[in-house]
Amino acid sequence: MSRNPWFETVAEAQRRAEKYLPGMVYGALVAGSERGRTIEDNIGAFGELGFAPRVVGHHAARDLSTTVLGMKAAFPVMISPTGVQAVHPDGEVAIARAAANRGIPMGLSSYASKPVEEVTAANPDTAFQLYWSGSRDTMVQRMERARAAGSKALILTLDWSFSNGRDWGSPSIPEKVDLRTMVKLAPGVLPHPRWMWTFARSGRIPDLTTPNLQPPGGQAPTFFGAYGEWMQTTPPTWEDVNWLAKEWNGPFLLKGVSRVDDAKRAVDSGVTAISVSNHGGNNLDTTPATIRILPSVAAAVGDQIEVLLDGGVRRGGDVAKALALGARAVLIGRAYLWGLAANGQAGVENVLDILRGGLDSAVLGLGHASVGELNPDDLVIPDGFTRTLGSPA
Ligand SMILES: Cc1cc2nc3c(=O)[nH]c(=O)nc-3n(C[C@H](O)[C@H](O)[C@H](O)COP(=O)(O)O)c2cc1C
Repeated sequence: MSRNPWFETVAEAQRRAEKYLPGMVYGALVAGSERGRTIEDNIGAFGELGFAPRVVGHHAARDLSTTVLGMKAAFPVMISPTGVQAVHPDGEVAIARAAANRGIPMGLSSYASKPVEEVTAANPDTAFQLYWSGSRDTMVQRMERARAAGSKALILTLDWSFSNGRDWGSPSIPEKVDLRTMVKLAPGVLPHPRWMWTFARSGRIPDLTTPNLQPPGGQAPTFFGAYGEWMQTTPPTWEDVNWLAKEWNGPFLLKGVSRVDDAKRAVDSGVTAISVSNHGGNNLDTTPATIRILPSVAAAVGDQIEVLLDGGVRRGGDVAKALALGARAVLIGRAYLWGLAANGQAGVENVLDILRGGLDSAVLGLGHASVGELNPDDLVIPDGFTRTLGSPA
């Protein structure tokens, strides 16, 4: 009897992803850095927060909707951009379709495996993400291509530094996938026939190129080519951030803020939103969980710009906790990648349904009529839970 493709939790989707994907693909998604403290804390800290439910006066109908970066969201979740993935041949197009079907916005990485034009066609509510990489002219060209394709917002990610090994080992990612590499990789790939078959049926192998970085009239660079360009680019100043925000002249999210002083500088630099993020634990290991930092950042700038959070969200209850502590919405990364691995587009929809259902239960059980009513009084916050990074002055 074939197994029911539906799964009831993100944890189950991850178990299925681990079985289904070749070790190197799964390993690249798990990622994290060094000891893995931050990635663990991102997830674990949500479990330290408790709920304080009410039992009478529940609302029969609850409004979960909001807007993020000027885009409608049926519930306060957005797809976080993730780079070159070899999970599914439909990649970000499948993710964008799933997000559109569930009424939530899509974040598309400039390192994605699908062109922005195909992704905006699948989900018009798309935000395109850039790293500070290449010359200003190159960045403008990429940004204008995304705008022409219909992207409604720009994301600038600044919290990725050169990651420093993992105690559990890093997967070896090939420069490019051709026949020779396929033969070399065969021992790791052959035990995963369903993954191989899904790609084979689609007629394309995961080639690890970055179509959104393709220069006019040139070739799309490989992931390592793109990475090399980024490493050789002088890191940005706040003036550079301000320049890019002005060039975009629309909803602009600075992704990767941890410190209160950075959040304030971001406001001064003209961004319209920030995401409290540590790149899913892939930046400097031992940075505290984003949910611990959120309250201080939201208190400092939440009345001036949209404050979002990403990192460790695996349940609808996590979404409720982030909103109660001041986030307007959350972005999710690995959760939807596990869903994509477990069951393609339907798997991503399954993950979004899990988050929506869990959030709705929390809003119901806490006695609210809408997500906007979530507040710290809904939570049991252990002493010493929160962290303030940087000077609030
Ligand atoms: C495999 C992988 C690739 C990622 N690639 C990008 C990227 O290209 N651009 C970006 O802004 N963030 C990238 N991120 C970070 C995510 O957008 C997000 O911040 C992180 O995954 C959130 O944590 P979570 O996975 O616990 O939800 C990546 C994360 C993962 C796991």
